[in-house]
Amino acid sequence: MNVSADDLRAVMRVFPTGVTIVATINNGVRRGLTVNSFVSLSLDPLRVLVSISKSSHCYPLIQESGVYSVNLLSEKQRDISSRFADPKDDKFHCFFETEYISGVTGCPLIQGCIGHIESRIVDEVDVGDHTLFIGSVVAAHIQSKDKPLVYFDGDYAAIDI
Ligand SMILES: Cc1cc2nc3c(=O)[nH]c(=O)nc-3n(C[C@H](O)[C@H](O)[C@H](O)COP(=O)(O)O)c2cc1C
Repeated sequence: MNVSADDLRAVMRVFPTGVTIVATINNGVRRGLTVNSFVSLSLDPLRVLVSISKSSHCYPLIQESGVYSVNLLSEKQRDISSRFADPKDDKFHCFFETEYISGVTGCPLIQGCIGHIESRIVDEVDVGDHTLFIGSVVAAHIQSKDKPLVYFDGDYAAIDI
């Protein structure tokens, strides 16, 4: 049976996810991109993963730095999600326009998020056009009780919880 990329994309569009900004610091330069492939992998040991496209500008920066933060966006942060998802943009200016503090890894923690996780990369799994960056969690905290930003059917959705 033949399954195309369009078939898979069509099904994944109707699977709702949260939205994060995965960010890093590399030689003092902060960059990040919008990511919904964030997974909590293991509690013992503490491991998370993100799947990053090899064609993304941030890819080599995350790989080189060996650290990333995961910023869990609230429903009030659609503009931040759009800013960090613009494919025409190298994201150089994004952190000049986004309020953040630096975490224990030096990675940016975006203010107004629901929560943040920071990790050090302990493993990389090459999967076609993406790489899974598996991180050992070094910090995790809740920042607000706002509702999460949800991505569904190619758009942002409100959830009533
Ligand atoms: C809701 C949403 C989720 C996304 N999830 C991912 C993801 O998990 N991995 C990824 O590599 N790109 C993902 N993207 C695409 C990147 O955010 C986008 O290609 C971005 O422009 C890459 O930035 P960069 O080239 O500056 O690194 C997502 C985009 C959106 C809107």
